[in-house]
Amino acid sequence: MSAVPERVVQVGAASRQYPVYIASHALDRLGERLREHVSTNRVAVVTDDNVGPLYAEPALATLRDARFEPRLLTVPAGEESKSLARVSALYDGLAAARIGRDVPVIALGGGVVGDLTGFAAATWQRGVPFVQCPTTLEADVDSSVGGKTGVNHASGKNMIGAFYQPLFVLIDTDTLRTLSGRDFKAGLAESVKHAVIRDPEFFLFHEHFLNLILTHDPEAMGQLIERNVQIKAAVVAQDERETTGMRALLNFGHTIGHAIEAAMAKQGDSWRHGECVAAGMAAACEMSVVSGRLDRAIADRIVSLLERIGLPTQAPLARARTELMQYINADKKAAGGNLRFVLAEAIGRARLYDDIQPAWIEAALRRVCV
Ligand code: GLY
Repeated sequence: MSAVPERVVQVGAASRQYPVYIASHALDRLGERLREHVSTNRVAVVTDDNVGPLYAEPALATLRDARFEPRLLTVPAGEESKSLARVSALYDGLAAARIGRDVPVIALGGGVVGDLTGFAAATWQRGVPFVQCPTTLEADVDSSVGGKTGVNHASGKNMIGAFYQPLFVLIDTDTLRTLSGRDFKAGLAESVKHAVIRDPEFFLFHEHFLNLILTHDPEAMGQLIERNVQIKAAVVAQDERETTGMRALLNFGHTIGHAIEAAMAKQGDSWRHGECVAAGMAAACEMSVVSGRLDRAIADRIVSLLERIGLPTQAPLARARTELMQYINADKKAAGGNLRFVLAEAIGRARLYDDIQPAWIEAALRRVCV
């Protein structure tokens, strides 16, 4: 990808205002950016064993250039690292690196590294400064922005966590070069989600410029990432802690998506989070149609865009439908015995509903789990 001019989006969360920098070669300026925010010398960088060999050295070099003494902590790549055991091992690393209350911790990696590191930063010494340097499209457009941090528990994904906003987010669009085609497409699922729940023009952008997006055209990717961050920032500004129902809209496709993620992993074929969200959105569209809230033609258009991207809208889980219902019932969004789902009403408009009938979920699972 050639040069993407810098774009800056401000996030105005209630607990903190902070910038998201989006540019090619953004990582080259990490040390300089961090210097604008902190005066300490020590800094910890957390990465994983996929991303570390690619980006840790350049990141550490820019930190040294800005007179930091960085300490690198590497965790195993993969969802299994989102665990309390891994948080505890990170605390050991932070203690050994003498990371005190004023010393920043940088997450360099995808969603797993960001969520895990953010939670460690939120809780180490009751909270140390934290920076997000995402290196996957999913993290660029969603998980690095908005302050959700946490790890998984045996009872479900992201059950243990904290809202903890970073000092800033630094998105280096060149890191997309080293992403596999599969991971790139998985990241686009969250982009389609943002368009469906909030922005009909952005949905058209995906439809019209899909070839440019899929070939990583720098201008198209700069615009796509910036718009995603703007949408996320607008939602988080209104409902940082997911209390009014606004931020819950970002869970469109995620209730059934999380169930698909768990069921696929159980049958030994772990799908990317974005792939599960894509199938989950197809299911949420079906529920929106059968409940009378969305036209069938619009649902078909959403599913068709996901398929053009190359994302799955069905999962090989016909024999796991009962199990999926159990996951869904146990979902943390099942509040007070009432299932709550985000349903689409149009492209660009979604709403959180709590009148969900099991028959609608069953219809969606019949269509999506084949
Ligand atoms: N990814 C959903 C949220 O940040 O609220």
